Amino acid sequence: MDYTIETLIPREKVEQRIKELACEITKDYEGKEVVVLGLLKGSVVFMSDLIKELDLPLTIDFMNVSSYGDGTSTTGVVKILKDVDQELKDKDVIIVEDIIDTGLTLSYVKEFIKAKGTKSVKVCTLLDKPERRKVEMKGDYVGFEIPDEFVVGYGLDYAQKHRNLPYVGIVVRK
Ligand code: IMP
Ligand code: MG
Repeated sequence: MDYTIETLIPREKVEQRIKELACEITKDYEGKEVVVLGLLKGSVVFMSDLIKELDLPLTIDFMNVSSYGDGTSTTGVVKILKDVDQELKDKDVIIVEDIIDTGLTLSYVKEFIKAKGTKSVKVCTLLDKPERRKVEMKGDYVGFEIPDEFVVGYGLDYAQKHRNLPYVGIVVRK
């Protein structure tokens, strides 16, 4: 497919919003230690910016789950490819995701993590496409609500590319 990428959210706006989210999280978790749990690979760019702004004692961990192929449509199947490395019993966990689309991935992962006996589990996502939801799933910390468009950059990919773009852009067919 021949395509171009049009800027949806410029770098400065993303960076500013991440600082605001981090400020909110820092306040909400005052006096607590948190586990920041990123979903590979899409959350990596967002998460690395976010944790630098969190003024809290924290550890990081990652899970890798698959719900998408290399294209732009969902398979509806959630498979755990990599579980967390640490014990999560009685921990306050913040799951970090790049985008909530149908909600299938996060609703599965959230229950999977809760089942480990955590004290609390919240969800922080850079982007949210509420129009596309197939199951109920609300982010506790949401960077931006966006329209039903396929986006890349800031960790999000199209066929594994463009994760390194320092802004969020829409994939536009030529
Ligand atoms: P969900 O299970 O449908 O909510 O899918 C979430 C996952 O789908 C995200 O972690 C992304 O990897 C992928 N995804 C959904 N929408 C987009 C998009 O617009 N661009 C890139 N990846 C997307
Ligand atoms: Mg992904």
